[in-house]
Amino acid sequence: MKSILFVCLGNICRSPLAHGIAQDYVDKNGLDIKIDSCGTGSWHVGETPCENSIKVGNLHGVDISKQRARQITQKDFEEFDVVIGLDDSNISNLLKLGCPQSKLKKLGFYGYENQDTPDPYFFDGFDGFEKVYEMIEVCTLNLLKS
Ligand code: 4NP
Repeated sequence: MKSILFVCLGNICRSPLAHGIAQDYVDKNGLDIKIDSCGTGSWHVGETPCENSIKVGNLHGVDISKQRARQITQKDFEEFDVVIGLDDSNISNLLKLGCPQSKLKKLGFYGYENQDTPDPYFFDGFDGFEKVYEMIEVCTLNLLKS
């Protein structure tokens, strides 16, 4: 595995955390794996991750503040070996956009019984981000170690 792309809807809450956690692990372990993230939607292109995602990342020693949201392109399906959707709707959007099924997995497959990673953006306040962080961290590290 040489490259992993994490994909959610807006690329401002969940996938930036998976991206940051994975990049941190790659850097600390001197691995030759390219990591990136993006969204299937275009609403937040160019924006920093949302405030609560930056905050929960900082609490865990992962700085995601320099990331900027981008939308997925067809080129991504050629460039990345593994594409990780955060929930079923992301997976279904990715398939519609032409992502090869063989490259596609859901993050929850790696340690959370293939569950969706819930989007804390619209509910739960900061607590939702803490819960989601734990799931993203466990699954992302399991993926990298697999
Ligand atoms: P994400 O969360 O997919 O985890 O980045 C979202 C944040 C905002 C929106 C969608 C998803 N939005 O439509 O504004």
